[in-house]
Amino acid sequence: MKHLLSMKHLSTDEIMMILERAEQFKKYGIRQTPSPYIISNLFFEPSTRTKTSFEMAELKLGLDVLPFEPGFSSALKGESLYDTVKTLEAIGLDALVIRHPEDGYYEPLLDNVNVSLINAGDGSGQHPTQSLLDLYTIKEEFGSFEGLKVLIAGDVAHSRVARSNADALKRLGAEVTFLCPPEWAGEFDCVNCWDEVIGTSDVVMLLRVQHERHDEQTSMTKESYHAQYGLTVERETMMKEKAIIMHPAPVNRDVEIADSLIECGRSRIFKQVENGVYVRAAILDMISKGRQ
Ligand code: CP
Repeated sequence: MKHLLSMKHLSTDEIMMILERAEQFKKYGIRQTPSPYIISNLFFEPSTRTKTSFEMAELKLGLDVLPFEPGFSSALKGESLYDTVKTLEAIGLDALVIRHPEDGYYEPLLDNVNVSLINAGDGSGQHPTQSLLDLYTIKEEFGSFEGLKVLIAGDVAHSRVARSNADALKRLGAEVTFLCPPEWAGEFDCVNCWDEVIGTSDVVMLLRVQHERHDEQTSMTKESYHAQYGLTVERETMMKEKAIIMHPAPVNRDVEIADSLIECGRSRIFKQVENGVYVRAAILDMISKGRQ
């Protein structure tokens, strides 16, 4: 594997290979990569989980990491992403982890760069490493994907997580349903009533309301969104006995999910974060070995 850009570029065999490598790392510890490999993390959008878990995975793999701060880089003088990437390649970097607000930012880079690119989120496009850690968490819980009913609820149109997971989960045999306000459905076919789906879903995956990606302000208040589209305390009682709650986080407490449910017995929200380190280590291990 040279790059990781979109779930659409991964075959189901490749997805399963990454999940298996992550499982080995979780069971037996993250093994250090034997050869020198130099990487940098370029986050042009804020991040807590993705950036820090990549850094942790890099540390545990023993990779050499060069710091890069977009806010103190020549991007501020108008340098393009293409020129930044070509510059870091010329300096000798082997791989770049990039988060950027533009959908498909990586497309114009592909024909002209040799450095490996790992997409840590492109606008509302894709978030493949989040998807892989979500898949890992679901597989860890249920053993497989075949026939699982996954409900993805929230700001679907603006969500790179929904876009990455929808495709991958369906290819792996899960049945995916979306629930959201009609104005946030985007290209997805969505239901807008919990009663149809809450009692039959095995996984309830909530999405953050992404105000930063909305062109127009919604007329919904936090309270009205929670009452109509959020996972309330009452709705949680209607879930199947073994069903789990997921959320990529950060969470708007009492908006997409009731505050008291975030750490309830069904919640896998912090488990997802933990699994993110193993999954990102697996991806870095495979990409770095592919280049050695
Ligand atoms: N889930 C996720 O991508 O979180 P961060 O924005 O904190 O990285």
